[in-house]
Amino acid sequence: MTSASCSTTFSTPPTESGDAIGYADVLVGLQYGDEGKAKIIDVLAAGYDVIARFNGGANAGHTIDTPLGRIALKQLPSGVFHPHAELYIGSGCALNPWKLADEIEQLREMGVDLDGRLHICARAAVVQPHHIALDRRGSATIGTTGNGIGPCYADRALRVRNDTRVNFMLCDLLDNETETVAAMRRVLTGMINSDGGTSPWVAEMSDLLLRLPAIMTKLRPHVEVDRSWLTRRVKQGARVLFEGAQSVLLDVVDGYQPYVTSSHTVPAYAYVGGDLSPKYHRRTIGVAKAIMSRVGRGPFPSELGGERSALYCREAAEKHIGVAHEHEHFSPDTLLRSNDPFEIGAALRMLTGEYGTGTGRPRRIGMLDLAQLREVVKAHGVDRVYLNKVDCLAHYLQSSYQGVPMRVHRDVLPSERIPDVLIYPGLTERSLTYGREGHLDAALGGFIDFVERHIGASLAGIGLGPERASMLLLDGDKPTVPSCAVVPRVVTHG
Ligand code: IMP
Repeated sequence: MTSASCSTTFSTPPTESGDAIGYADVLVGLQYGDEGKAKIIDVLAAGYDVIARFNGGANAGHTIDTPLGRIALKQLPSGVFHPHAELYIGSGCALNPWKLADEIEQLREMGVDLDGRLHICARAAVVQPHHIALDRRGSATIGTTGNGIGPCYADRALRVRNDTRVNFMLCDLLDNETETVAAMRRVLTGMINSDGGTSPWVAEMSDLLLRLPAIMTKLRPHVEVDRSWLTRRVKQGARVLFEGAQSVLLDVVDGYQPYVTSSHTVPAYAYVGGDLSPKYHRRTIGVAKAIMSRVGRGPFPSELGGERSALYCREAAEKHIGVAHEHEHFSPDTLLRSNDPFEIGAALRMLTGEYGTGTGRPRRIGMLDLAQLREVVKAHGVDRVYLNKVDCLAHYLQSSYQGVPMRVHRDVLPSERIPDVLIYPGLTERSLTYGREGHLDAALGGFIDFVERHIGASLAGIGLGPERASMLLLDGDKPTVPSCAVVPRVVTHG
């Protein structure tokens, strides 16, 4: 299939005297996803002109409460509620057109119009119905989100199966919609036939294809066929913030196979999937969470309760039990005082709301892993880190730990008896409350110094509550605080 939109078109970027005025920063999650990246983007958005996605698709997501109601965004870049910001979805994304059209429509109903603001690269891969069906069928082994992301990227690399083209980009739909939809239907029909026509999803997937032309009518005005659109904007002076979906530890190559997502989540990929030259890179921003979580399967060294927790969460997801069940059957205050890390983890999940945004499935909970963060910061050149949910560490003070347990790196504390886990006793409820009011006392300052020393990067902000105003920004004029000599205790983490 040849096409006009799919053949790369380049506009001529302005050839002003040389140096570009704009630049790009890349913001990524440093752990296993769900670190609260959208909240940080909300804080930073005023300083950028374009917010751009470069990987993933409807497997990402965050819920935003607005005065007009709650909206779950999956594919649109964060920053939709900052009207000055243009939004870009790069060629590295796996696009679900039905869900994207739905997001755009929901926003329109809230009075947020994306006309002229949203630009989607014509070369983004399209998630097809057979991708979704395949992913749902095989999702249990890895614990995928079932959005067809893996099969979509796999088909992009495969290109042709049994002499039939299996990957399609938005530009294919733009150039020859009838032929492209027919080709998608042939692949779906082949799959239905090989399943004996009995799969429960047949009607749902066929319906998606029937609706695709109407969906494309809504998306077409946003599709950007100019390969150098973002370059042009940067040359005009735009400041770009790339927003990573999922997180560094879930990268398809850098993560632990097979318990990863299927796209590249590392910051360097922003410039491939985001359609911009890396020469415009300014800095790399990381987001981490003080109460760590992971959904799906795979290693999680600081998991509270280890294997038991992983198994419990897996079974809960399979049985569709989650937040309501746990709150009905368990008392978080009792669990918190237990000596069993599994129970402390469950208490933290309940007290800090660590459940899947859409599914309500319990997330696996872990202590803050400074050793892991240190490796990630080093490997990806992270310049500054935002640490969310620091206020939630106060729960540990009520637990049998009587301090904040953290995994630490052996490089930082070389000794004969090298501990894996330290209990940091110096944080107080008072200092956290004080921090929420915008002040940094010696106890909180000491904690920040400790974390910075252990991860090898400076903290740009710490989250002390769910609201945007509870982010204590430490950028630039970091208040000087008297140093707080804290001697951590050593424990073993089984
Ligand atoms: P997939 O991305 O749907 O293929 O899922 C692969 C793995 O990545 C599974 O363990 C998912 O739970 C995980 N994953 C995908 N997206 C997210 C996310 O936004 N947050 C956290 N985990 C995710």
